[in-house]
Amino acid sequence: MVTSRIAVLGRGAVSAGEPVLRGDDLGVLRGDGLFETMHLRDGRPWLRDAHLSRLARAAAAVELTLPPRAVLVGLLDAVRAGWPAEVEGALRLVCTRGPEGGGPPTVYATLAEVPAASRRARATGITVATLPLGVPAESRTALDWLPAGIKSTSYAVSTAARRWAQRAGVDDVLWVSSDGYALEGPTANLVWLTGGTLCTVPAASTGILPGTTAAWLLGHAGELGFDAAERMVTPTELRAADGVWFSSSVRGLTEVTALDGEPLPRSPHTPPLQKLVAFPVPDVEQS
Ligand SMILES: Cc1ncc(COP(=O)(O)O)c(C=O)c1O
Repeated sequence: MVTSRIAVLGRGAVSAGEPVLRGDDLGVLRGDGLFETMHLRDGRPWLRDAHLSRLARAAAAVELTLPPRAVLVGLLDAVRAGWPAEVEGALRLVCTRGPEGGGPPTVYATLAEVPAASRRARATGITVATLPLGVPAESRTALDWLPAGIKSTSYAVSTAARRWAQRAGVDDVLWVSSDGYALEGPTANLVWLTGGTLCTVPAASTGILPGTTAAWLLGHAGELGFDAAERMVTPTELRAADGVWFSSSVRGLTEVTALDGEPLPRSPHTPPLQKLVAFPVPDVEQS
């Protein structure tokens, strides 16, 4: 196990016990902040520029002033310096609104090993249950005051959903809108294959997080002879798909093996898709 790390803007790498945030930081008091999580592979953050661009879009949407991109890159470089190339890392960049009363944003980066459970799930797949979101699919983007599709540090709803999953005895949940569309998981995008087209849910109309992993996958689908499309989908349609996956920067591409207790047949397309995104898949006995 490699020791986790933290680096703080203006201070560089700090030891784990050192204070990073003030107690009155709005990131803590209000969940008022943004973050990105990147996959550190071969010691480097995969899709770093896509993550920094999404962060910049989110910062504009919530009127949060970020340091210049080169400074953020320097912070990421500081926290990853000397990290063993063979160890997969989850590299997080956090930017909160800073202390209450108007301070500069608090900016820091953390780096930890990708959890063994996330790596294992790439081989075993995950069981998923649908969970109602309680609003129509396009209701959030209809509100012009509400920043949609941002990676905010307000994750209380997501962690509630993950706790529900634990109580329900499934690995994860898939949020479904009140008009019946599958949207995303609490920390992952939905990707599926149907009739030779690799699909994900449109972020622009639904307000889900536009995933870097899903975007990269769809952008490279042609290398496997697939078309790519953003589409709305229902859980019933997913059951008839040629493969259903959750994608995220830390988990990579994880096959959904059961939906609402109904097993989905293992997709022959999982290994080539996983090879395409090049997340390491551990050798795990299939049960
Ligand atoms: C709500 C949500 N959707 C999708 C994703 C996947 O995004 P990405 O592939 O950029 O990691 C995440 C990542 O944590 C997420 O929190």
